[in-house]
Amino acid sequence: MQWMHARNPYEGFDFAGIPFDPSGWGSTSPIFRKLIEEKRPRLIIEVGTWKGGSALRMADILKEIKSPAQIICVDTWLGALEFWNRHEHPERHAALKLVNGYPSVYYEFLANVCHAGHQKRIVPAAPRCQP
Ligand SMILES: C[S@@+](CC[C@H](N)C(=O)[O-])C[C@H]1O[C@@H](n2cnc3c(N)ncnc32)[C@H](O)[C@@H]1O
Repeated sequence: MQWMHARNPYEGFDFAGIPFDPSGWGSTSPIFRKLIEEKRPRLIIEVGTWKGGSALRMADILKEIKSPAQIICVDTWLGALEFWNRHEHPERHAALKLVNGYPSVYYEFLANVCHAGHQKRIVPAAPRCQP
């Protein structure tokens, strides 16, 4: 965390008003347990996190097997292109939860991690972060 962030992004973050909702894509797949139990990773880098569904799933498994491994979550938290240009699916655009024209998905992700208590294990990494 200190390597990625001068200030811990969870510090002072008030998540009480954001409900726990890690909905996304495929996060309940058994592949996560299979890979983690087989490979026993020390570090996981997830590219594409959205609201954190799969990262939280992996974090739960790591906790269960008492692994100290951390998960670096790389995402723009701006959604995929089709969230912006596929007007026939208005629910996708709505999922970005724009606040004054800018997506707030990152804050939903942060809140989900806090609700689940995985702040020490899951490290957010927007592409602007540099070591
Ligand atoms: C299918 S979602 C990830 C689903 C997630 N793993 C889950 O459990 O629900 C894909 C994610 O990739 C992110 N993304 C798209 N293009 C990206 C890029 N160039 N760099 C980083 N993240 C990107 C989007 O913001 C989106 O959150």
